[in-house]
Amino acid sequence: MTDNLLQIIRPDDFHLHVRDGKAMRSVILDTARQFGRAIIMPNLVPPVTSVQQAARYRHSILDALPDGTDFTPLMTLYLTDRTDPDEIVAAHESGFIHAVKLYPAGATTHSDAGVTDIKHIYPVLETLSKVGMPLLIHGEVTDPAVDVFDRERVFIETILSPLINQFPDLKIVMEHITTKEAVQFVVTAPENIAATLTVHHLLMNRNAIFTGGIRPHHYCLPVLKREEHRQALLEAAISGNPKFFLGTDSAPHPQHAKESACGCAGIYTAHTAMELYAEVFDQAHALDRLEGFTSLFGARFYGLPQNPGTLRLKRERWTIPESLPLGTERVIPFRAGDTCQWKVIP
Ligand code: DOR
Ligand code: ZN
Repeated sequence: MTDNLLQIIRPDDFHLHVRDGKAMRSVILDTARQFGRAIIMPNLVPPVTSVQQAARYRHSILDALPDGTDFTPLMTLYLTDRTDPDEIVAAHESGFIHAVKLYPAGATTHSDAGVTDIKHIYPVLETLSKVGMPLLIHGEVTDPAVDVFDRERVFIETILSPLINQFPDLKIVMEHITTKEAVQFVVTAPENIAATLTVHHLLMNRNAIFTGGIRPHHYCLPVLKREEHRQALLEAAISGNPKFFLGTDSAPHPQHAKESACGCAGIYTAHTAMELYAEVFDQAHALDRLEGFTSLFGARFYGLPQNPGTLRLKRERWTIPESLPLGTERVIPFRAGDTCQWKVIP
């Protein structure tokens, strides 16, 4: 590694939305170019709730990759009020399902079929604990009376704290954390509690949603927070604490669905993910901590081996495209038209 060239163990994305059908075929290579593996989110329509659906989804992803592509999709199941603990056992035995996702019903995009009360899934959580499979949590309460900027903090206080006491052995990843309270919670929690950090929450605070007018391409869930929270996330990312690792939450939506009177939540970062994480660590003078965060800690938490290959990045200015194909439509990538400081090279 020099100041201008980075070579790291091939990274993994532990939180990714690739959709399905033509849209998936447009975006999957953006991830496969950079990452060895990715945890594939199950919030399709209809959601991926069974081992059989996950197997089909996995095959469609593998079919979309050119021969010889070094990329493994790590599949997940979507929990509902009716998930059967036997399905969790079958998922564990499948060998290709690596986690299950808890969406509180109504918390975010395609979460309507999610869990309405955590108590409904206690038998499922018991089974997850027993087999050692991680529970991935979208940690926001859905009560409309709770301010949208407080939903993560209130989730930690009212749902997550009691949950880890009830199921002390359960492996939990708090996905895409956005607050200093979440950082603090994860730091002080036992070993089996970890968190993913997106690149957009590391780069932006909530002002970015309103710079010169409303910016729908900066709207995601959990929503961006104050600068003091971004600072706490950044410190966690560069701390070298293995409880914090990379999960982009890259979530492509067609341009018209974002630029609308009721725009969808989700930011498409997959196209430039590693370049932007490198920029974050570089600006914080912490490039020596990048590899742990991107390529070691997540794999260790999931009980996966390190990827065999490497990824190289070069310090080079280039312009992020204004838009990219998404099936028959277009997606506006994060920082479209802006300059990027690092470039993935072959
Ligand atoms: O911003 C988001 N978009 N947050 C989520 O939790 C879901 C995601 C999506 O699927 O679009
Ligand atoms: Zn997500």
